Amino acid sequence: MNFRYPYGHVLYRNLHLSYPLITHGKGAYLYDEKGKQYLDASSGAAVANIGHGVKEVAEAISSQAKKVGYLSGMQFTHQPVENLAEQLSKLLPLADGKVYFLTSGSEAIEASIKLARQYWVERGKEKKVRLISRDPSYHGNTLAALSVSAREHYKDIFRPLLQESTKIPAPYCYRCFCEQEYPDCQLKCAHELEKSIKKLGKETVSAFVTEVIGGASSGAAVPPPEYFPIVRQICDEHEVLLIVDEVMTGAGRTGKWLASQYFDFIPDIIVMGKGITGGYFPLSALAVEKNMVDYISKNDRNFLHAQTYAHHPVGCAAGSATLDFIEKNKLVERSSQTGLALMESLSPFISHPQVGDIRGKGLLLGVEFVKNKKSKAPFPRKKKYVEHLILKAMKRGLILWPNTGQADGINGDLILIAPPFTITQAEVERIYSYLGEILEEMKQIG
Ligand SMILES: Cc1ncc(COP(=O)(O)O)c(C=O)c1O
Repeated sequence: MNFRYPYGHVLYRNLHLSYPLITHGKGAYLYDEKGKQYLDASSGAAVANIGHGVKEVAEAISSQAKKVGYLSGMQFTHQPVENLAEQLSKLLPLADGKVYFLTSGSEAIEASIKLARQYWVERGKEKKVRLISRDPSYHGNTLAALSVSAREHYKDIFRPLLQESTKIPAPYCYRCFCEQEYPDCQLKCAHELEKSIKKLGKETVSAFVTEVIGGASSGAAVPPPEYFPIVRQICDEHEVLLIVDEVMTGAGRTGKWLASQYFDFIPDIIVMGKGITGGYFPLSALAVEKNMVDYISKNDRNFLHAQTYAHHPVGCAAGSATLDFIEKNKLVERSSQTGLALMESLSPFISHPQVGDIRGKGLLLGVEFVKNKKSKAPFPRKKKYVEHLILKAMKRGLILWPNTGQADGINGDLILIAPPFTITQAEVERIYSYLGEILEEMKQIG
C-alpha cells in the first residue's frame, strides 16, 4: 500500500511525501509496518516528552473513558479536571492559579488573547485591543495565533484574513537585530517593546505575546537573563498583559517545569499544550491568577470563550497520569541533566563548515545551518538544505524537527533535537553518531 497523495482518502499534511505507517512505539522508538525502527529524537513536534507506550497513561485514559468519556464544561465539573487544575496550579508561579483546558496550543493562544481583551473590557479600558509579539515567533495556525506569529511561509496567502500584531525583534542573539553582542547590546530587543507600546499608544495595547525560550521559530534561542525582568517592568508601567507561550517549552522540556522559571519574573497568562499529556490526548491549558478572573466575576459575567471540548474528562485524566509519571520518574531533572549530556555530545559539530550555532536548554536544542559561517549567510531556500537533511535522517531511522525561514523570513535552515525525557545515554550517543554521518554527507549538498 502506498501512503501518499492521491492514494487512499487521507488529505495528507504533505502532498508530496510517501509516509511510513507506524504501528507502535516504545520509549524513544517508533516502529513501522515493515519493522523499521525510528529513534524519535524530536518527540514528534516536541510532544512525546514521556516517551511512547507508557502504560500508566494508556490505562488512565481507558479507565476514564469507561467511566464517562465526555461531559460539557458548561453543565458539569468532574474529578479529572479538578485534579489536574490543582496539580498544575501547584507547579505554576501564580498566586491562586485558575486553569482553563482546551485541546490545541493554537486554541489556548486564541483563548489567552480573548481573555486579555475581556479583562481590559471588564476594567473599563475598552480601547485596549492591540497585540505586540516577536519576530521570529510561532504561536499556532488558527487565525489569531497565526497573526501574532512571524512565520511568513504559513501566513503568505492568508494575510488578507489576518489581523496583524506589531512585531518586535526576538532575543535571537545569533542573529541580533542590532548586530551587537550581549551585554554590549544593553538588551535593545527588550526595550523595543516600550518603543512599540509608545508608538501604538499604551491605551490601545492589550498584551505582549511571547515565547520564553524559542521553539522551532528561532531554534531554541535562549534570551539573556535580564530580558524578561525588563519586559515585565515595561508591561507593568504601561498596563500591558504579559502572555507567555509555553506550549513547547512547558512541562519540563527545557529542564525546569516552565522555561519562565529560568528568569526572574511572573507572567500574567501562561499557555501550555503538548507535554502536559505527552501527546496521549490533545490537551492545552491557559492559567491566570484569581485576581484577573475576579474582574470578570464581579461584573457578573463569564469568560466568553466556550468550546465543546473544554475541560475534557479523558484529556484531563491523561494529563494527571502524565504529570504523575513525570514526578515519579523525576523527568524534569532528567530533562535538565540529559540535556547537558546531549549538548556536550553535539558541541563538536560546531566545527562543521555548515553549522552556525548550537543552542538551547534542557532537552530543547537547536542546530542552525549556514552557507557562510563568517557572514552567517543562510542557504538560499531553493536549496532545501534542511529538507535534504531530514530525508537522510529518516532513511537512517532518526527523527528530527526542521524549521526554515528564521534568518530573514524566507531563508534559514535549522533542526530541533528534542527527544523524550526518558532517553538513555546510549540513545544520546546514537543521535550523535547518526548526525555525524548525515552532516558528513550534507557537505555535498552545500
Ligand atoms: C510555541 C508554540 N506555540 C503554539 C503552538 C501551536 O500549538 P498546536 O499546534 O497544538 O496548535 C506551537 C506548535 O508547535 C508551538 O510550538
